[in-house]
Amino acid sequence: MKKLEIITNPKNNILRTECKEIVKINQKMKDLALNMMYTMKVEDGIGLAASQVGVPKRLLVFDCVEISGREHDYGILFNPHISHSEGSQVLPEGCLSLPGKKMKVERASKIVVEYKDMAGKKKQRELEELAAQVVQHEIDHLNGRLMTDYERN
Ligand code: CO
Repeated sequence: MKKLEIITNPKNNILRTECKEIVKINQKMKDLALNMMYTMKVEDGIGLAASQVGVPKRLLVFDCVEISGREHDYGILFNPHISHSEGSQVLPEGCLSLPGKKMKVERASKIVVEYKDMAGKKKQRELEELAAQVVQHEIDHLNGRLMTDYERN
């Protein structure tokens, strides 16, 4: 497993890029996903998008099991897409690309996310509370959006 470098300059263009769909989940993409998961854990994060490690592709990883206490609150999602969202919640967020920054963000409290898994299989799952918050934050990254964009002036 390799620790990847996380982009922490919010002015870096890659954090503002609309990331591209992944056509083929090849070994390179799988290695990237595993290295992202490793990097996220080393950095004490609960979510990470590929653009944050300099790869503008639609891939995210998350793991908030320790905080949420829900044993399935982790995953590697290729080409994630929210097909349903409902409710609202306001939770505090941080971001590995914005060290030291904490802010509350309002997001849907429940989502259904469709994605492809490591085997390239189409999947869908329902996420709630913290896991829903994290995945929405990471999908924002894939669309070039940072949590600070929600800051009220
Ligand atoms: Co982030």
